[in-house]
Amino acid sequence: MLAYTYTEQGRFELIEKKKPVLLDPKDAIVKVTLASICTSDLHIKHGSVPRAVLGITVGHEMVGIVESVGAEVKKVKPGDRVTVNVETFCGECFFCRKGYVNNCTDKNGGWALGCRIDGGQTEYVRVPFADQGLNKIPERVSDRQALFVGDVLATGFWAARISEITEEDTVLIIGAGPTGICTLICVMLKHPKKIIVCEKDEKRIQFIKEHYPEVLVTAPENVKEFVLDNSEHGGADVVLEVAGTQTTFRTAWECARPNGIVTVVALYDEAQTLPLPEMYGKNLTFKTGGVDGCDCEEILNLIEAGKIDTEPLITHTYPLNEIDAAYELFEGKKDGVMKVAVECSGL
Ligand SMILES: NC(=O)c1ccc[n+]([C@@H]2O[C@H](COP(=O)([O-])OP(=O)(O)OC[C@H]3O[C@@H](n4cnc5c(N)ncnc54)[C@H](O)[C@@H]3O)[C@@H](O)[C@H]2O)c1
Ligand SMILES: [Zn+2]
Ligand SMILES: [Zn+2]
Repeated sequence: MLAYTYTEQGRFELIEKKKPVLLDPKDAIVKVTLASICTSDLHIKHGSVPRAVLGITVGHEMVGIVESVGAEVKKVKPGDRVTVNVETFCGECFFCRKGYVNNCTDKNGGWALGCRIDGGQTEYVRVPFADQGLNKIPERVSDRQALFVGDVLATGFWAARISEITEEDTVLIIGAGPTGICTLICVMLKHPKKIIVCEKDEKRIQFIKEHYPEVLVTAPENVKEFVLDNSEHGGADVVLEVAGTQTTFRTAWECARPNGIVTVVALYDEAQTLPLPEMYGKNLTFKTGGVDGCDCEEILNLIEAGKIDTEPLITHTYPLNEIDAAYELFEGKKDGVMKVAVECSGL
């Protein structure tokens, strides 16, 4: 089968590999129907994910059909259409039992697929702990509608969940890339009084205006003033930082009101400073982390109920044998790309 592989720093190649086999009674083999490309794949390519293993098949955002299951898998069976979770988690350790699956203590716990073990930009993938990592896609939900459930949408859902948003709140979201928009969609489910999105890219600003006309949009240059004018207590009640640039961490806490919550979803290339003397008296609460992707069943139900729709994020579709071109487009942010769907089976 063809597998998009991390062959050397700076290089992914589509090469022929053996089809994976079940290695553990809790494994499943999934025939990948659609995969997507995530910003984290680019971080692997450029060597900024030190734990990524050379030779692995990349890709951690995918949907497919269960091909075979190990003897201890109970929740899914061959033929089931499923989402695949970015995180591998045992479901039994201290952290898993608390829902902190990103910190599962299993040796493959956390983000392993497409990083430390073979992932999903290919035709078949082995998924460990299949009862935890796979969720059945409801009949009325298409593969395209479900494509982001396991990664970028799980992230938005988690970010909105931990941010303690109420209906009285003004919420600021910084960054309207795929993760920022998934965060926005999930924040909307909490019905805050106002949502402000700060984005610098003109095409992405247009995307927000077109798809989410009820949301207020501002450019980074005016964000502080704009937030002050559109909030009641000297800043946003909740800020979600989903841009991850050199300036946006500071913007995030500066735009929060006293006693506000700042949730940092972004992953930075460099350390950020927490200037406590400047913040003194503002009494902020910071929340940070990698997604705890354990809400996929609930997310699928919300998609089925028509409450979440991420299909507009798929701006381009490519077959697996043209995945190089898909990466070039995604990495270069060309042609207004938001997300790419890669068709992996039926070549
Ligand atoms: N915590 C997690 O588990 C998790 C999961 C997925 C992604 N992430 C992180 O979330 C961040 C966003 O991911 P993405 O895939 O959407 O990336 P992206 O690069 O497509 O999106 C970032 C957006 O921020 C915008 N931006 C840049 N500077 C800005 C500024 N000064 N003000 C406002 N907007 C600005 C960019 O134009 C872009 O649209 C990344 O740092 C990524 O690593 C974290
Ligand atoms: Zn990802
Ligand atoms: Zn665990």
